[in-house]
This record gives sequence, structure tokens and C-alpha cells, in this order.
Amino acid sequence: MQIVIIGSGNVAFHLAKAFMMNKIPVAQIVGRNEQELKSISSALNIPYSTEHPEKADLYLICVSDNAVEEVSGLISEKDALVAHTSGSLPKEILKGEYRKASFYPLQTFSKAKELTYSEIPFFIEADHAEDRILLSGLASRISGHVMESTYEKRKYIHLTAVFACNFVNHLFSRAKEISDSQEIPFDYFLPLIDETVQKIHSIDPREAQTGPAVRNDKRILELHEQLLHGESLEIYKTMNHSIQNMYEL
Ligand SMILES: NC(=O)c1ccc[n+]([C@@H]2O[C@H](COP(=O)([O-])OP(=O)(O)OC[C@H]3O[C@@H](n4cnc5c(N)ncnc54)[C@H](OP(=O)(O)O)[C@@H]3O)[C@@H](O)[C@H]2O)c1
Repeated sequence: MQIVIIGSGNVAFHLAKAFMMNKIPVAQIVGRNEQELKSISSALNIPYSTEHPEKADLYLICVSDNAVEEVSGLISEKDALVAHTSGSLPKEILKGEYRKASFYPLQTFSKAKELTYSEIPFFIEADHAEDRILLSGLASRISGHVMESTYEKRKYIHLTAVFACNFVNHLFSRAKEISDSQEIPFDYFLPLIDETVQKIHSIDPREAQTGPAVRNDKRILELHEQLLHGESLEIYKTMNHSIQNMYEL
């Protein structure tokens, strides 16, 4: 099967790498950013192009969500399967006469960070049973966690991921601003962060909550509010409000 990957960002790089590591050849990687394409091409030994994609059986569109529709219109092949990797876009966003699908990997991808691909959940959606089988088979060569999902469900999977990953990471950034402002090494907090995540492998997050808000310790909450200003103060108040509402305090 001839596979072409479109895009040269984080997901394009990691999917291409996961395919190559599992002996699934990628015929070409196509995009507009020649510098990034060159770097992926030389790291993974995949031909690249900044022009139109070559003829393929499967095109995987791994570009920013707001560019998926436009980029999908560049594929003129009718006898092909085209999938995007977005969590929140329907497959119908793809503009062409080809068969359409979604191939969503539930992970946070950054080029600089290595990943264990076999643990990544993949969510597959396609109109035709044979395409679902094809994409599930492909994902199963990378990962042991491959599932079918409707768009209705996938939207909520992505939304959950925004809370569980993107927001949590933003809180790490805000936490680091506070520790940096007092010249406290952020490394001190890594065992705490690791334990917070490890704990919810065995305890429901609702049961795992600790801290002044769930203890309803008003004196500490007031002290912390005095130490903060601007957006971090707003986040602090919003988070405490949410925690106290959840526990009906
Ligand atoms: N990152 C994640 O953790 C993650 C996880 C699961 C799914 N996804 C999904 O995977 C897709 C790609 O995400 P990503 O994180 O890989 O994004 P990314 O690292 O920001 O890369 C985006 C890619 O899209 C290209 N692009 C942007 N606008 C374009 C346009 N108008 N025409 C052509 N190419 C354009 C960029 O090219 P330039 O370099 O030239 O801008 C770049 O190659 C998105 O649908 C995203 O929702 C991401």
C-alpha cells in the first residue's frame, strides 16, 4: 500500500516515524515547509515534496485543523482513502471525491520528545467497512490500542484531552512562573507532578484531590490570593471555586 503523509509538524513527524519503525513504508511526505520536510526526510529516509502529492492509496493529512479543508482539496485522486488526524473535525471536512476517514491518535506530540507508540490509543472512523479494517489494521501494527469511534464520541475524546493534557500543561507553565519568580528550581516539583499523575492510575481523580480548597482551609486560600496577581490569581480563584463546588463545600 502506497502511503503519503501531508504536513511536516509534530503529528506528521511522529506518525511517519511510527510507520517506519514498524516497517510500514511511507512513500512521500508533502508540505509547504521545506526546512521541516528536509529534516524529517533525512531523519527517516522518506522522499519529500513541496509540490502536489504523488499517487497513493492512503493520504494522511496531518496539518493544522484550520488548514485541513484547504489541503484536502489538493488531492485529486478519486480511487484513494484520505484521512485526517484531528480530534475535533468531522471526516466530511475533507473536500474531494475520494473515500474519507479519520485517524486520530490520542497523545500529545512534540518532535523533540520520544514516544512509546505501542501505548497510543488510535480512534478510527470511515464510511466503508473495508476502510475501517484497513486503517485499524495499519494502526494495530503501531499500537495495541486501536478502536473505532464516531465523530460524536471523538469530539468528546478530544475535549477530555484538552482538560487532561493541555490545561494541565498550562498549569505547569503557570506553576513554573511562580517558582521562577522566587528562584526555586522547578525540578523540585517533578516528583510531586509524577506522583499526581501516577496516583490516578489506581485512584479516581475525585478521590485523589488534596490541597487547601478541598480542606476548605480559608486562611491558606486568602494567603495564596495575597501572593498572586493578574491571570494566575484569576486561575487560582476559578480552580478553587470549581474544587469547592465539586465537593459541595
Ligand atoms: N500535536 C498533538 O499533540 C496532536 C495530537 C492529536 C492530533 N493532532 C492533530 O494533528 C493535526 C496536526 O497537528 P500538529 O500538532 O502536527 O500541528 P503542527 O505541529 O502545528 O503542524 C502543523 C502543520 O500544518 C501545516 N500547515 C498549517 N497551515 C497550513 C496551510 N494553510 N497549508 C498547508 N500546510 C499548513 C504546517 O506547516 P508550516 O510549518 O509551514 O506552518 C505544519 O506542517 C491537527 O489536526 C491536530 O489537531 C495533534
